[in-house]
Amino acid sequence: MISKHIQDTTTLHNGVTMPWLGLGVFQVAEGEELVQAVKTAIKQGYRSVDTAAIYGNEQSVGQAIQEAISESGITREELFVTSKVWNADLGYEATLAAYETSLAKLGLDYLDLYLIHWPVQGKYKEAWRALETLYKEGRVRAIGVSNFQIHHLEDVMKDAAVKPMVNQVELHPLLSQQELRRYCAEHGIQIEAWSPLMQGQLLENPVLREIADTHHKSIAQVILRWDLQHGIVTIPKSTKEHRIIENASLFDFELTADEVARIDQLNQSLRVGPDPDNFDF
Ligand SMILES: NC(=O)c1ccc[n+]([C@@H]2O[C@H](COP(=O)([O-])OP(=O)(O)OC[C@H]3O[C@@H](n4cnc5c(N)ncnc54)[C@H](OP(=O)(O)O)[C@@H]3O)[C@@H](O)[C@H]2O)c1
Repeated sequence: MISKHIQDTTTLHNGVTMPWLGLGVFQVAEGEELVQAVKTAIKQGYRSVDTAAIYGNEQSVGQAIQEAISESGITREELFVTSKVWNADLGYEATLAAYETSLAKLGLDYLDLYLIHWPVQGKYKEAWRALETLYKEGRVRAIGVSNFQIHHLEDVMKDAAVKPMVNQVELHPLLSQQELRRYCAEHGIQIEAWSPLMQGQLLENPVLREIADTHHKSIAQVILRWDLQHGIVTIPKSTKEHRIIENASLFDFELTADEVARIDQLNQSLRVGPDPDNFDF
């Protein structure tokens, strides 16, 4: 279960494999910095990248993928590309159209994973029908949701023909999402952590510092290793080469059960991002 290698994967409930580790690209503008970050990650062994229509950077992510393919001999099939439909495009026809727009910007003919970005009340079920259509037509390898609480998952699954394969949510030691993780495990939905490093806000934590020192690792590495040992897909964001490398150097140490438990106890149900039950965008 515990991954041993940067390219190790989890198997989603439809049999598609997804890397445990990916590169996040939130808050990085289109341009050379992003192209270089994605190419560096692929060079360093990352095989998964997580973008979204609203990030406004699908073109640069796509450019980096094309360049990596032509320069390094890696194939499209070895990569796992995720994007997400934005709230303004939730609706059956609108979501189908949004998928085509994302593909065109990325310069790809399929995505590995397409997610509903936020559970906008009254809208996400029609969007889910569109994702089911894309999936049944073989246009996307896996479909899922993001920022869904248990009640959103129950609601969408009531009428769904296809169960979401992934739920990507804010998750880090101060927001460990135990109840949601248990529910998703019971239903075969893979949990994926966004802001796994709490956007850099956990890097002074004394408990994490002590554990990191024991292993001669950084706090970021301890957090990401904690994700892996819990069976959580994780997508830390960095545009800096040394951190892209650091965030992938997770496979030469193991947290003890006691250390995992100590990190579990840090939970305060504290969010850095919006509350999925109370957002207005
Ligand atoms: N579905 C959603 O609603 C949603 C919401 C938010 C994010 N996401 C996804 O999740 C990804 C990750 O979340 P995030 O970008 O919000 O936050 P994050 O990955 O928790 O943290 C990123 C921040 O930490 C810094 N950092 C990265 N590695 C570090 C290290 N080893 N040591 C010290 N600092 C480090 C980065 O700076 P540098 O770049 O300068 O290194 C950046 O400021 C996003 O990029 C996006 O793909 C999804």
